[in-house]
Amino acid sequence: MSYKITVIPGDGIGKEITDAAVEVLKTVDGKFGLGLAYEYHDAGGTAYDKFGTPLPQSTIDACKASDAVLFGAVGGDKWDDVDPALRPEKAILGLRKNLDLYANLRPVKVADALVDYSPLKPELVRGVDLVIVRELVGGIYFGEKCESEQHDGTERAWDLENYSVPEVERIAKLAFATAKLRRGKVTSVDKANVLATSRLWRRTVAKVAEEHQEVELNNLYVDNCAMQLAIRPTQFDVIVTGNLFGDILSDEAAVVGGSIGMMPSASIGTCTSLYEPIHGSAPDIAGKGIANPMGTILSAAMLLRYSLHEEEAAKAIEKAVDKTLADGYRTPDLWKEGFSKANTEEITRLICQRI
Ligand code: NAI
Ligand code: MG
Repeated sequence: MSYKITVIPGDGIGKEITDAAVEVLKTVDGKFGLGLAYEYHDAGGTAYDKFGTPLPQSTIDACKASDAVLFGAVGGDKWDDVDPALRPEKAILGLRKNLDLYANLRPVKVADALVDYSPLKPELVRGVDLVIVRELVGGIYFGEKCESEQHDGTERAWDLENYSVPEVERIAKLAFATAKLRRGKVTSVDKANVLATSRLWRRTVAKVAEEHQEVELNNLYVDNCAMQLAIRPTQFDVIVTGNLFGDILSDEAAVVGGSIGMMPSASIGTCTSLYEPIHGSAPDIAGKGIANPMGTILSAAMLLRYSLHEEEAAKAIEKAVDKTLADGYRTPDLWKEGFSKANTEEITRLICQRI
């Protein structure tokens, strides 16, 4: 075996969707001879029930010792009353910190068969194929903060935005490397007309760009970028931005795609990277076998691309998903009159057949 993958199903639909993705990975492994080995670990509410903590040290150690992590989802109302410090969602935050997952990659690619699921007009979303590269461990979310203070007789609170050159450099380098694997265009998003941190961001990205002459760099202010995503989303290839702007823009971009069950993500770390669908544990449909596994399956494709550098195998998965949709199969969340309904297991089998 040449690659070790830690699988963390988590809670709710987590088991169903990671089972589906592993099935697909086994199929591409059979075809391309990748040599994948899987090790299962607990996190989230399931881990809390077993070990009294949402993120056991054994899970962290296993992640660090593996080539990549495939993550389902955590959380659910069952754990609403547990101590906030031990809530299931702490598992994903803890993994971000422990694995130093400094970049979040969220591709938005709209399959031709799904252009009419977007709230935007089909002609605007046809051909959308972009990825947001969001800085994940710095910026205002991690800056110094004050919950409340008195100032001239009024109460105020504040959060400090700050970025260092090395923090911007490493995310910019990743964005340019990502663009090289794609269409060779980076759009850096900031608010350099107002914010000092954004001016440092822009200077630093420009320096990194000098080492990547073959990639085209544009700068956009975040307010304009928010508009452009709705007006002409096909103009983007790679969007790189800070933590706060990235949080907002990545949710906006996901909506452009139209369906939460389809969206994959990668969180890139300094030792091991983690791959998960953008949706949560969907407790309302858990255990029914009807969850859409395609967001997780496409996350597994990203795992092959970014952690294992198995581009051909990654593409094989993406093509099989597209083909399954083009052939008219839909999970219940996407089902409409005139299409064939397929549950989690059935859609997974259809995708595997097409690989
Ligand atoms: P959610 O994403 O779990 O569900 C929102 C809606 O979308 C639900 O109606 C659900 O049935 C549907 N949905 C989501 N994924 C689907 C799929 N693959 N197939 C078909 N339908 C799907 O968000 P919600 O309900 O706000 O959160 C539920 C739990 O998940 C909470 O405990 C939340 O904290 C947690 N959560 C965990 C995340 C993670 O593990 N990274 C991310 C987001 C939320
Ligand atoms: Mg968000």
